[in-house]
Amino acid sequence: MLSTAAKPYIEASVPVLREHGLAITTVFYGNMLKAHPELNNLFNQGNQANGSQQQSLASAVFAYAANIENAAALTPVVERIVHKHVSIGILPSHYPIVAKYLLGAIKQVLGDAATPELISAWDEAYWLLAGELIAAEARIYQSNGNYEKQWLKAKVLDKKMLTKDIVSITLGSADSDQLPRFHAGQYISVAAFLESVGLRQIRQYSLSNSEGETIYRITVKREHGDEFKPAGMFSKWVHENVHIGDQLDISHPYGTFVPRLDESGPITLISAGVGITPMISILNTLYKKQSTRPILFVHAARSEENLVHFDEVEMALKGLPNVKAVTFLNETQNAAYESGRMNLSKILNAEQLSGKFYICGPTPFMDDQFKTLLELGVSPINVEREVFGPESLSHLL
Ligand code: HEM
Repeated sequence: MLSTAAKPYIEASVPVLREHGLAITTVFYGNMLKAHPELNNLFNQGNQANGSQQQSLASAVFAYAANIENAAALTPVVERIVHKHVSIGILPSHYPIVAKYLLGAIKQVLGDAATPELISAWDEAYWLLAGELIAAEARIYQSNGNYEKQWLKAKVLDKKMLTKDIVSITLGSADSDQLPRFHAGQYISVAAFLESVGLRQIRQYSLSNSEGETIYRITVKREHGDEFKPAGMFSKWVHENVHIGDQLDISHPYGTFVPRLDESGPITLISAGVGITPMISILNTLYKKQSTRPILFVHAARSEENLVHFDEVEMALKGLPNVKAVTFLNETQNAAYESGRMNLSKILNAEQLSGKFYICGPTPFMDDQFKTLLELGVSPINVEREVFGPESLSHLL
């Protein structure tokens, strides 16, 4: 618990840090990576470039302090961070480095306003959160055979181009019979040295095959980049350099976006673009379990050529008693699809509205669908979303 001495300083400074949050974390990353360039191997250089990682780590520390009396709001956030950290290989020895440069950045940006009492209050808050993360991360590392066994050797069993920009890669274990089992909705990290930047980089990809299998399938979209975001250096590498028979370093499966598939109520899976990957894993798993739940699979894509894994959607439609699928395409003359943006209010009936909802896709898309669901009377506790990349956590500040 935060001490009574520290509490008023934290409460008084949360609005100040909210205002200067991005400046503080930009200074923090700049200084930390200059002093510890080896940490560039851990941080996603793409997220660095667009600022999302800067915002995310800082928001988490500030959100934690702002919600210090409201553990219920923080638990899912902490669990998500823990899974992300262990999928990357964050160690206890990294925490003092982050502490030094984060507190240093608060001092640098706030100047005279950063009194010794205020800094010591933030030091206390940081270590409360860090202690929680380190303990939870250690429990997961231990259950996987400790730090040395975190990275698994996988062999590429298959590589298939699904569209001109989306490839699916199937992986088996390179040195044992099988890869660890996973839950539908989880992801793995893939690590590789990229010559183009002279760094080892790590990325997370949702598994798209069904739960219970001991091989993994990932589905990777090559990100070309535009005026708003840089091209994806890792997805380019996967497309160009990963071949059948190659070995890859991958993590155990992680992630907290894990629907309870043994429940019996209605379930709606909502996705856009490559956000289909965890949803297809969930659908494939429901198929394997021969689920009788009312299942609605709703997907949005630019055009018919961008639809991937739809043979598996067809399989579920044919093989399960209670599945419906609706696909929205930006523009289409084909009556099999809905034309235009996804409109949930057009397709959800009372039964489906009483069930659980899972959403994955670009953040603005997820925000839109979430808003519509709330307007239709769905309780937020029945909606879960999977963000690819660091979550902004702005709802907690
Ligand atoms: C109290 C301390 C920390 C907090 C509150 C924190 C918070 C976060 C958050 C919120 C994310 C984004 C999770 C997501 O939504 O996917 C994240 C990711 C990450 N964190 Fe931490 N973190 C802490 C300590 C550390 C330390 C000590 C390191 C190691 C130097 C580290 C390295 C990373 C990396 C590499 C990522 C993934 C970034 C990316 O892929 O862009 N974090 N952390």
